[in-house]
Amino acid sequence: MLEKRVKRQLLDEVQAICPKDVTIMQVRQGEAKGLGHAVLCALPVVGNSPFAVLLPDVIVDGYDCNLAKDNLAKMVKLYAKNQLSQIMVEPVPMNLVSNYGIADVDGKTLSAGASALITNIIEKPNQTEAPSNLSVVGRYVFNPAIWDCLKRTPLGAGDEIQLTDAIALLMQQQQVQAHHISGRSHDCGNKLGYIQAFVEYAMRDKILGADVKQILKNLVN
Ligand code: G1P
Repeated sequence: MLEKRVKRQLLDEVQAICPKDVTIMQVRQGEAKGLGHAVLCALPVVGNSPFAVLLPDVIVDGYDCNLAKDNLAKMVKLYAKNQLSQIMVEPVPMNLVSNYGIADVDGKTLSAGASALITNIIEKPNQTEAPSNLSVVGRYVFNPAIWDCLKRTPLGAGDEIQLTDAIALLMQQQQVQAHHISGRSHDCGNKLGYIQAFVEYAMRDKILGADVKQILKNLVN
């Protein structure tokens, strides 16, 4: 229909949503049993291969950082080199650690784009038990050995099967690396994070940005 009506720009936009060489398969998690359980539901379609997990309520934002678009690509490359699972991390203020999986890299500080072996990982710790302030951002590349760990993971935080707990089990048999994000993430899993991402992206939009800023200014004044 768009082609017939010569709505070229709209047509391009719609077609660009899914690249031509990508096949989408969907698996339904019938019960709310946690992220680890959700990932395990994908075992029949992924099979015994390395794979990536991307949590779509986390947006990785490049801002002006050229490296940001390569975050996951870099993790895949690192995996190809050493076959070690890669977990993206980003520092958060200590008062927010209980919202995330928290990883420790032997007390080291990581710079953007750097990697280190994880020495400890805990799902949603309180401030006193948190081993660091490095939060798990929602981008993972896994060695297929994680499948067996997921199968063995008992209920954890929130009475759910936690992916973080499966990673801790994996660490008992092989090393796992943390990879520090280049750029910044937006946690759209909470309302304020979602609002902030929406406003920031709208303000930066090439076509709408100037008008959006004006609207916001008018609202604030
Ligand atoms: C999940 C993960 C957590 C991770 C977070 C990132 O938590 O369990 O380890 O830090 O995503 O957003 P959820 O947001 O589903 O509570």
